Amino acid sequence: MKIAICGAGTVGTGVAQILHDNADLIKLRGGEAIEIAVVASRRPPSEGPLADLEFTSDLISVCGRSDVDVVVELMGGTTDAKHLIETSLRAGKSVVTANKALIAEHGDDLFEIAAKHDVSLKFEASVAGSIPIIKVLQESLAGARIGWIAGIINGTANFILTEMASEGVSRSFDTVLAEAQALGYAEADPTFDIDGTDAAHKLAILGALAFDQPLRFDQVHIEGIAEIDPSDFKFAKAFGYRIKHLGVARSSGESLEMAVYPCLVSTAAMLSGIDGVLNGVLVSSEAAGETFCCGAGAGAGPTGNAVVADLIDLQRQGLRPGSDAPRRTDESLKMLRPEETEAGFYLRITVEDRPGVMSGITTVLADFGISLDKIMQEDAANHRATIALVTDSIVQGVVEQAVAKLEQHDAVLGKIQKIRVF
Ligand code: HSE
Repeated sequence: MKIAICGAGTVGTGVAQILHDNADLIKLRGGEAIEIAVVASRRPPSEGPLADLEFTSDLISVCGRSDVDVVVELMGGTTDAKHLIETSLRAGKSVVTANKALIAEHGDDLFEIAAKHDVSLKFEASVAGSIPIIKVLQESLAGARIGWIAGIINGTANFILTEMASEGVSRSFDTVLAEAQALGYAEADPTFDIDGTDAAHKLAILGALAFDQPLRFDQVHIEGIAEIDPSDFKFAKAFGYRIKHLGVARSSGESLEMAVYPCLVSTAAMLSGIDGVLNGVLVSSEAAGETFCCGAGAGAGPTGNAVVADLIDLQRQGLRPGSDAPRRTDESLKMLRPEETEAGFYLRITVEDRPGVMSGITTVLADFGISLDKIMQEDAANHRATIALVTDSIVQGVVEQAVAKLEQHDAVLGKIQKIRVF
């Protein structure tokens, strides 16, 4: 099999390194060698395993080459990469991509083009790096009715939350983000890592596969981690939780909820132990129970490995169109709005430290039918106190109304922090 590698960055380099280092076992397992016919990128690679290969800066030219069987798209972005993939598929070449934004936002159209031209579009590397979660959903759980998926699917956000929660001097969000950038985990512009967009791209893909739905990135509710305060980690820990940024897709069979947000996760739950840049995805299905996968979510080796696995799949299926293209039911599930969904909620409320305030707060909550699971208070400076509490499960819209009412209370100072409990 001959491939074109389009994009000569971290993942492209990782793919070339794996193809070089493991050439013997790839040939054994896939039945033939995988050779890189050409490397295409805007600038030629100056060093590493891509440097001595044939190079072109004319990306689209790879689509017309008779010595290229499969185009590997590792450029990122949703404009040039989309054009490249469309042109490749129309030219009868299967494509392997790591591009989550492109699959999440334009995947339905691209899969349609692939089917029309009898070729495959494979995307294991687009979600959670080394974790074979696409295969788990499409193959291992192909016969299982899935109830929900919950995943830590952005390593940078997980690293930041892990560091902010660590013992010792409590560090602010900005300090830890600067450290993540210095260590090379976060992007130079980490906006999509922090604001939840990157996780939402991945969740849109997982949700579509798990529930046989169209890709609905624009309907994923997105919350990032920028609003988490160091004190939230302290209260969460006291209540028996850790704070994780999760992507959650859940279906009752009639409706679908897809959201990414910070959550309190019980210290007893598997997801709470996934720290640093690691990713972890938990899938709950009737037949299989809880299936948990964890591993490195990014990087040359982990993501490169997922790309190579897709290439070997293509070798094994003889470059025929994938039987693993996403399927869809005829009926789209109704999307639940966030305010229609139910969960327990953690609230952190800064109040004036004077008699009657605690009972005033709990009375407002009771008036909205909100039952408390846990509550604590801590004195702060200047006659202030912080009340932290966890509610029993309640509809989000009701909590939002209660929070709005509490923020008008004369003893409540500033904005109330609200975080879901998973
Ligand atoms: N920026 C992403 C992360 C890379 O931190 O997880 C993998 O998609």
